Amino acid sequence: MNRKLIAGNWKMNGLRADLQTVRDVAAAINKTATAPDVLLCVPATLLAQAAVAAEGSALKIGGQTCHLQVKGAYTGDISAQMLQEAGATHVIVGHSERRTLHGETDEIVAAQALSAINSGLTPIICIGETLDERTSGETLKVIEKQLGGSLSGLTDAAAFVLAYEPLWAIGTGKVATPDQIAEVHDFVRRFLMGRYGQAGDAVRILYGGSLNPGNAAEILPISNVDGGLIGGASLKAADFLSICMTACALTE
Ligand code: 13P
Repeated sequence: MNRKLIAGNWKMNGLRADLQTVRDVAAAINKTATAPDVLLCVPATLLAQAAVAAEGSALKIGGQTCHLQVKGAYTGDISAQMLQEAGATHVIVGHSERRTLHGETDEIVAAQALSAINSGLTPIICIGETLDERTSGETLKVIEKQLGGSLSGLTDAAAFVLAYEPLWAIGTGKVATPDQIAEVHDFVRRFLMGRYGQAGDAVRILYGGSLNPGNAAEILPISNVDGGLIGGASLKAADFLSICMTACALTE
């Protein structure tokens, strides 16, 4: 069984006052062998301060996207190296909101992931199908295509994390059923082992989409679910910590 990773994605939420949430989470989690890894991906403006707030604790801090280049004339963008220097250890790439609203393709996502790895960050590469794709029975075909494209050029299975986030479950309160989650996660595991051999077994595959304290105990034990990527429920320390506790109880 892989050590679980409980990751929060604050998206475009969070002002300086919300650093208290980071402090509360940092103070509550521990470093025991059975504890999950815990990560908060905060807005870039808070990253350096969040990293300071988490110092000395087991809490890790991450970014939410990065450019595929290290530097250059890319107004408004942020590079993996910048995130790393500000204190990030991880960065989300290919979140569906970036793919949909910013036109990020599988090729771009793969290049972003490589840039993250080259800058010493662990990319969390997101994949997931739309409701239309699911209802027309194309889920696994879509997932396979996204995996093939988004992992292009990534030769080290130990260097990245995957997150399966069905688009129709993000921010909607609609959670995929355990059977739907297991089907995709098992498929992703087979894909990874086909591509990376035994090393593919150790890649962590997170589930994301309306994960909350009320459903974590049902979702986190599913086979090949190695943690969660949590949006709304990561904004409140108590909710996020409750999910961390559920993950902790599973490994004890
Ligand atoms: P919610 O947990 O708010 O559904 O968001 C999931 C997500 O997109 C995490 O990246």
